[in-house]
Amino acid sequence: MATSPSPSHDSLPPKQQEDNSEPDPTRGQGIPAYKELISTLPSHKGWHPTLLLKYQDFWFPEYILPGIINLQQHFKACPSDLFLMSYPKSGTTWLKALAFATINRNRYQLANHPLLSHNPHDCIPVIDVDFASRIEGMPSPRILQSHCPFSLLPDSIKGSDCRIIYVCRDAKDVMVSDWFFTNRLRRSNEVELVQFGKAFELFCEGICYYGPIWDHVLEYWEESLRRPERVLFLKYEEMLADPAGNLKKLAEFMGCPFSPDEEKDGVVGEIVRLCSLEKLKNLEVNKRSEFIMPHIKFDYGSYFRKGEVGDWRNHMNLEMALRLDGIIREKIGGTGLTLGSVGDSDSSYRQPSS
Ligand code: A3P
Repeated sequence: MATSPSPSHDSLPPKQQEDNSEPDPTRGQGIPAYKELISTLPSHKGWHPTLLLKYQDFWFPEYILPGIINLQQHFKACPSDLFLMSYPKSGTTWLKALAFATINRNRYQLANHPLLSHNPHDCIPVIDVDFASRIEGMPSPRILQSHCPFSLLPDSIKGSDCRIIYVCRDAKDVMVSDWFFTNRLRRSNEVELVQFGKAFELFCEGICYYGPIWDHVLEYWEESLRRPERVLFLKYEEMLADPAGNLKKLAEFMGCPFSPDEEKDGVVGEIVRLCSLEKLKNLEVNKRSEFIMPHIKFDYGSYFRKGEVGDWRNHMNLEMALRLDGIIREKIGGTGLTLGSVGDSDSSYRQPSS
């Protein structure tokens, strides 16, 4: 970490303005509405607060899809760009905090670090909604975040030398995490809560926020096999088991490995502690409610919950868990990728209390 006086937080992206105009989910913010295209797409009520639309085999919330199409059609990547990618609820917030703290470690002091006063989503911009306004004036190398499936990315990302870091997680824990997150979102947007069973069924059908998860994960996995020097594939469970080891891997891939002196001085541990769930969750900034997307209220606190491996055990019965595992195995079997399955650790399985 920096030892000189801390400079201003000049590496932060422009802050999003709250948008209080009348909701028009297909409008996006300063981007084309793609109304004609969008009107032809299959839609589903899903289990999120807004309608889901199926575009090129994936389901997107209607307030995000215009941004995704815009990204696909107009985003121009620079070779030095670094993309943090994930299926939602797989550890994106943590990855953003770790990447930001690592790349800026000589810029900020711990005592006055931007992560103590800014949510990680305000430190690294998400480009799925109105990318242009979010990346304006960003210095190089830019670190950007997206949940966009690999197949939908613009050729300027897929065909360039930019680096991509993808984090995945056991689909059962993703589903549970998403259910909590969504109900919190529904509550803050005054929408009736959704039952776990209904959410589970739709998740298994792939009808969910950026779903289906199996295609999302598989596309990035296969790309990481094709181009390991350009796509780093991380697993949330492995990061929890060995945060320091995975942070070093991340730093190396980002082109800023920790020096022996930094390791000796405990910089790796400092970053791990700064970005830990316990630390971030208890910061005042992450307890406050904020708007971070147009027309939908996101609550910063909803990004920090338990951060445990196997929380699905508290919410799914064994039949559900085996069913979801079976779907995942059928979709990704034979690819060399595994996502935690009941069989891996079922000695600790217990029926959830009803
Ligand atoms: P749980 O709901 O299982 O607790 P995302 O950031 O992709 O939305 O993922 C959210 C999940 O990551 C939540 O999981 C959340 O608690 C967990 N998480 C958030 N910040 C974390 C951190 N700093 N370390 C570990 N896990 C974190």
